[in-house]
Amino acid sequence: MNRLAVLISGRGSNLQAIHGAIQRGQLDARIVLVVSNRPEAAGLEWAAGEGLPVLSLPSRGLGREEYDAALMAALDAVEPDLVVLAGFMRLLTGRFIERYPQQIVNIHPSLLPAFPGLHAQRQALEYGVRWSGCTVHWVTEEMDAGPILMQAVVPVDEGDTEDSLAARILVEEHRIYPEAIGMVLRGEVRLEGRRAIRVRG
Ligand code: GRF
Repeated sequence: MNRLAVLISGRGSNLQAIHGAIQRGQLDARIVLVVSNRPEAAGLEWAAGEGLPVLSLPSRGLGREEYDAALMAALDAVEPDLVVLAGFMRLLTGRFIERYPQQIVNIHPSLLPAFPGLHAQRQALEYGVRWSGCTVHWVTEEMDAGPILMQAVVPVDEGDTEDSLAARILVEEHRIYPEAIGMVLRGEVRLEGRRAIRVRG
């Protein structure tokens, strides 16, 4: 059984989508740990209520190396096949990333490489793009710059606010994240340079 460790910092709606896909039998995996760097994250309480193993590992006041060492120790104890970042608001160190080669994925609410970093939906609105979307990518040391696994496109409407655009993108996030995770777990994708190539499926 494929073992997922899910890292969150907040609401946890992508975590819920992944859990839902597992429960419906669409994703052959098990969530072996949910970690939040913010003890007050709503997603942590939700996960505990679902009976998922949870760990609150506060990052406040800790340096990046120090925090990632603690995170690695927690993850190593549950031997994840894939580390899933789902709204985890911290940059991971090179040491952490090297510990799980091609085993860390993230979702970002824009069509990367456009609008990396914080407030991607606001950046898209301010830039005036007509289309935005979301991107699932492998995690490398550079923020939001790893090889792209899957993308979905959504239109930007003239009357959109940051919230309305974020909500439209989120629907697609919840659809493609479990799908992309399944693709990786089934070994259906390999890297050629920075291009992710489908090998079967
Ligand atoms: C999502 O928009 C995701 O793309 C971004 O952070 C947000 C997390 O939302 N990385 P949630 O906590 O999964 O609801």
